[in-house]
Amino acid sequence: MTTADKKRAPRNRTLTLDDTDRAMLRPLLLRPDAPLSDSELADRVICADLMEAIDLLPDRFVDLLILDPPYNLDKEFNGRRFSKRNDSEYADYLDSWLSGMPRLLKPGASVYLCCDWHCSGVCAQVLEKYFTLRNRIVWQREKGRAAKSNWKNCTEDIWFATCGDDYFFDAGAVRQKRRVLAPYRENGKPRDWEESDGGKFRLTAASNFWDDISIPYWSMPENTDHPTQKPEKLIAKLILASSRPGDLVFDPFSGSGTTAVAARKLGRRFAAVERDEEFCLWTLARLQNAVANPSIQGYSDGVFWERNTQREQQQSRLKPQTSSNSCSSRKEAKPSK
Ligand SMILES: C[S@@+](CC[C@H](N)C(=O)[O-])C[C@H]1O[C@@H](n2cnc3c(N)ncnc32)[C@H](O)[C@@H]1O
Repeated sequence: MTTADKKRAPRNRTLTLDDTDRAMLRPLLLRPDAPLSDSELADRVICADLMEAIDLLPDRFVDLLILDPPYNLDKEFNGRRFSKRNDSEYADYLDSWLSGMPRLLKPGASVYLCCDWHCSGVCAQVLEKYFTLRNRIVWQREKGRAAKSNWKNCTEDIWFATCGDDYFFDAGAVRQKRRVLAPYRENGKPRDWEESDGGKFRLTAASNFWDDISIPYWSMPENTDHPTQKPEKLIAKLILASSRPGDLVFDPFSGSGTTAVAARKLGRRFAAVERDEEFCLWTLARLQNAVANPSIQGYSDGVFWERNTQREQQQSRLKPQTSSNSCSSRKEAKPSK
C-alpha cells in the first residue's frame, strides 16, 4: 500500500500530495549538474544523492550544519533500504561524507549530528576527526517500543561540535518555561517564578537533556509519512542556539525537510539535500505551508514551553518569512479522508 492509498481519520492532518501538487512542485527542485554558487543554493531543496552533489557545493557557505543521516539500523526510506552494518563499516560510511563537510563550513560554524545510543560512540569518534566536540544532547522520545528483556529505548542523542573555538552560541534564545514544583516565596512574593497560562512557571537555561519534545503525530500539521521525521521544535532549538537570523543552515540528509522548514520559520536561509524525490516534494509543500502557518509547536514568545502545557499545544504565531521559492497560491495541506 502506498502512502497515497492510506485511509486517514477525518482529523488526520498528515501532509498528502496529489499528482497535481507534484506536477506543480517538481519544477521548484534543484537538480545540480554543475558547480553551484552560494546564491544558487540559498533556500533551495536539492534533489540529489549527497555523494554526487557534494563536489558541486561551494566552499564555506554553511553557518550551521545539521546532520540526520540513516542510523545504523535496518530502515526503509520510500523503497531504498539502509542496512545495519558492523561498527567499523558504519564508521567508514560516516567518514565517506563527513570528510567532505569541513570544506563547506565557514570558520566558526557549528555542527549537530543526530544518532541513537547504538551508534552514538562511533558517531562521536568520526565527528572528532574533523571537529571539536562540545556536548552530547539526549532527548526523550515519547514513543518507544517496550522490550521484554531490556530497558525500553526512548531517548536519542545529538552530538554538538564546532569548527573551532570561536563559535556563536545564544543560550538566551533557547530558554525553557518549566512548571515550578515547589514555588518558593520571599516576603510574600514569588522568587524566580511567575503565575501565567494556567500554572506556575520558571524560565530556565536549556540543559543537554530535553524532555519537552513531542514526536510528530497524525493530528499535528507538521506530520508527514516520512519514517524518521524530526520534530520542528527540536530542530528549532539547534537553529536558535547556533545561528543568527539570515545565516545559512545546511541539511544534507533532509528527509521531509524539517530543518528547511524550521529555518524558514525562524528567518534563516537553508540548503537541503535529499535523494528521494517524494520527500523533496513534501519539503516544498511544507515550506509553502510555513508561509501561511509560521508557528512552531511548543515555541512562542521567545521561549520553549514544557510538554503538555497549554502553550505547548497551541499553534503560536511567529512573524512570517518571505522567500524566493515560496508559492503563495498553494492550498493548506488538506486533511485527508
Ligand atoms: C534520518 S532521515 C532524515 C529525516 C529528516 N531529518 C526529517 O525530519 O524528515 C535520513 C534521510 O537521508 C536520506 N538519504 C540517505 N542517504 C542519502 C544520500 N546519499 N543522499 C541524499 N539523501 C540521502 C534518506 O532518504 C532519508 O530521507
